[in-house]
Amino acid sequence: MWPRKRLDIGWLDMASLRAAFVFRWNRRRATANVLDAWPADGQTLPTMSVRSGLHLILGQLDWPRGSEILMSAMTIPDMARIVRHHGFVPVPVDLDLNTAAPTLESLEQATTPLTRGLIFAHLFGTRSNMTPVLDFAKRHDIEVLEDCAQAFTGPDWTGTPGCLASMFSFGTIKTSTALGGALVTIRDAELANAVIREHDNWPVQRRLSFASRFARACLMKLLAYRPMFFAFRLTLSLCRRNFDHVLNNFARGFPGADVVPQIERRPCTPLLALMCRRLLRFDSETLARRTAIGERLRCATRPAAALLGHQGDNHTFWVFPVLSHDPQSLISRLRHEGFDATQGASMEIIVPPDGRADTATTIRTAFDRIVYLPLYVSLPDKEVQRLGCVVSEQEAGSR
Ligand SMILES: Cc1ncc(COP(=O)(O)O)c(C=O)c1O
Repeated sequence: MWPRKRLDIGWLDMASLRAAFVFRWNRRRATANVLDAWPADGQTLPTMSVRSGLHLILGQLDWPRGSEILMSAMTIPDMARIVRHHGFVPVPVDLDLNTAAPTLESLEQATTPLTRGLIFAHLFGTRSNMTPVLDFAKRHDIEVLEDCAQAFTGPDWTGTPGCLASMFSFGTIKTSTALGGALVTIRDAELANAVIREHDNWPVQRRLSFASRFARACLMKLLAYRPMFFAFRLTLSLCRRNFDHVLNNFARGFPGADVVPQIERRPCTPLLALMCRRLLRFDSETLARRTAIGERLRCATRPAAALLGHQGDNHTFWVFPVLSHDPQSLISRLRHEGFDATQGASMEIIVPPDGRADTATTIRTAFDRIVYLPLYVSLPDKEVQRLGCVVSEQEAGSR
């Protein structure tokens, strides 16, 4: 069985992290090294996660309580939770299924006189052209926060000038993961200074808690070997444990609904050291290979199954979500053929504010049809082709 995901980190990086737990103690130097490796056009702060960065920024903005923040409707639940925590109202913005990005019409539809901000997420490995969005935001006096958690492509692209902030994640299942951490670039000096002052008051993440994440990541890497994955699945089914549930919990950064106390931490020194290593040794060839494989799979699954965001700009295929006519049958068939596809459990469609008409009907309707196909550079061409054929055949049959 080809597992659903392989962590984008090598054993050498893992070994360097193990050494960092012993030898790296100078936080100031580790922070400076990260900043040297990230040539952004504003003030950058390495944080423990994108969620920490968003929490810091929203805490320093002087918007009145009840201000509305437009958000790309599909995101992880914590992003909307953090917005609500600050007394703001998250308003979902519909996505175009072809590009996986909000359209100008959907932005217009969701905007009201209370709108102050927009959190625009580049989803699934796409990176949208922000010019029309920034023009729209300027017309309506809206600040744009750019969520690049799923769109990291190395230090050559550090975000869109014109956005108030750009946030990149090094979380466990992300491109070039550091098993956590994020880079948050802020392009307003006053806001950046306030955010940095507040961040300095937070305690440093405990090494022990980062070490436990390291241990979980080692396990996830081992499970990416097919015989291990097979044995793991068999064991769970014999113990009558839900396999999806167990795997999703492995990758979860901050469990439970009470996220805020968990994210108010500064990154520990070993995490900073690993982020720096991932930036300095960023492997653009591997990313190019992933993009080529994604293109091949996109062609092989067309036209029977549409990739959500198949016309997305600058696609690097961080994940490969297709819209299925019968998701459960597709998943069963793929598992039977040796591919671990899944519906995923980490993202949601933001609910509209009470009493307001839904402003994200297209993506809400499509959401339950999404199936994530396994895709990574170690998947051989022959298997990519076979995966495409199975999906096409199954989808053609279930129309
Ligand atoms: C769209 C999106 N936004 C934000 C985040 C949060 O990133 P982090 O784990 O660094 O807090 C994620 C994480 O998966 C994400 O997918």
